[in-house]
Amino acid sequence: MVDIPLVDLKGQHQEIAAGVEEGFRRVCADAAFILGREVTAFEDEFARFSRVEHCIGVANGTDALELALRAVDVGAGDEVILPTNSFIASALAVVRAGATPVLVDCDPVHQLIDPAAVQARLGPRTRVIMPVHLFGQMAPMEALQALARDAGCMLVEDAAQAQGAIRNGTGAGGFGEAAGTSFYPGKNLGAYGDAGAVLTRSPRIADRVRALRNYGSAVKYHHPERGFNSRLDALQAVVLRAKLPKLAGWNAARRAAAGRYDALLADVGAVTRPATLAGNQHVWHLYVVRVPRRDAVVQRLNAAGIGAGVHYPTPIHLQGAFADLGHRPGAFPVAEAAAREILSLPLFPGITTAQQERVVGALRTALG
Ligand SMILES: Cc1ncc(COP(=O)(O)O)c(C=O)c1O
Repeated sequence: MVDIPLVDLKGQHQEIAAGVEEGFRRVCADAAFILGREVTAFEDEFARFSRVEHCIGVANGTDALELALRAVDVGAGDEVILPTNSFIASALAVVRAGATPVLVDCDPVHQLIDPAAVQARLGPRTRVIMPVHLFGQMAPMEALQALARDAGCMLVEDAAQAQGAIRNGTGAGGFGEAAGTSFYPGKNLGAYGDAGAVLTRSPRIADRVRALRNYGSAVKYHHPERGFNSRLDALQAVVLRAKLPKLAGWNAARRAAAGRYDALLADVGAVTRPATLAGNQHVWHLYVVRVPRRDAVVQRLNAAGIGAGVHYPTPIHLQGAFADLGHRPGAFPVAEAAAREILSLPLFPGITTAQQERVVGALRTALG
């Protein structure tokens, strides 16, 4: 029985239930189930929130990344450099766009893509560097921008875990040609099903994604290219619109909770606390510590009713799905060491100090 969950979606629903029900009634009254007013309104609101000019709602985060890559003309023969320590969808989006993923290691402190590792893999076929804004903080974008500029390639950001994250005043999608984000229910801004979006400063890329998500059509029944059916659902847009006005407050509550964990864990010698890269406003999608004998610790925490998790236990290069890339264990030692030690503690906007004290108490016991 889990009594402190990793994320608490039930509690969050109570805060917005009335707005969601009212919005569902609006959609049903208009029978505007595909695209329409709610989707457009959400796109405008989320673009403003994200400090990026254009937002295009799509069916999920994996599609968002694929369509962002396709919209910048990535395809067969192109290489996309991305970190191996991400959710598998980052790499799946690359292959679905027809390109080849080139995996690289992360830095040992923040577990963000390592610019030096990127530099070492730049080559004549590199079209895109795709950093992942992991756990709620942005990758070292200035260094990556400089590398991309020198190499003549582009940046497409995986912002699935970073809604509201800011780096030196710029949001995800503001550094690169485009960013893809996910509104999977457990994300900082989560829908009630699958949903995602592309963010971009470029009106040209925005138009291209708008067509690609809609069968490759900007004008009804006119299809100059092959597209997809990957539209943000109108009912999901209602949920996202109901939540968005609360997101800044929820992210601030996550930040406060992360600060409380930092204080509670300060004297727990076996635990390495997460670090924030200078210049980042972290939105704490996950609070990820490192501990020895992690699997046993997770088991003990779960047995004590604490919904601790691991994001992610196996780096992409060691997944069967990407065996064809030919990487062996030891290929990316920093990410592999992290994968053995990382542990995500329960973190959600409504988590109480008492709950966090219980989590840390149970963690001390689990560490023996
Ligand atoms: C880093 C990262 N990239 C991509 C995705 C894919 O998003 P979705 O599940 O909405 O397809 C996710 C989340 O699931 C993610 O965490």
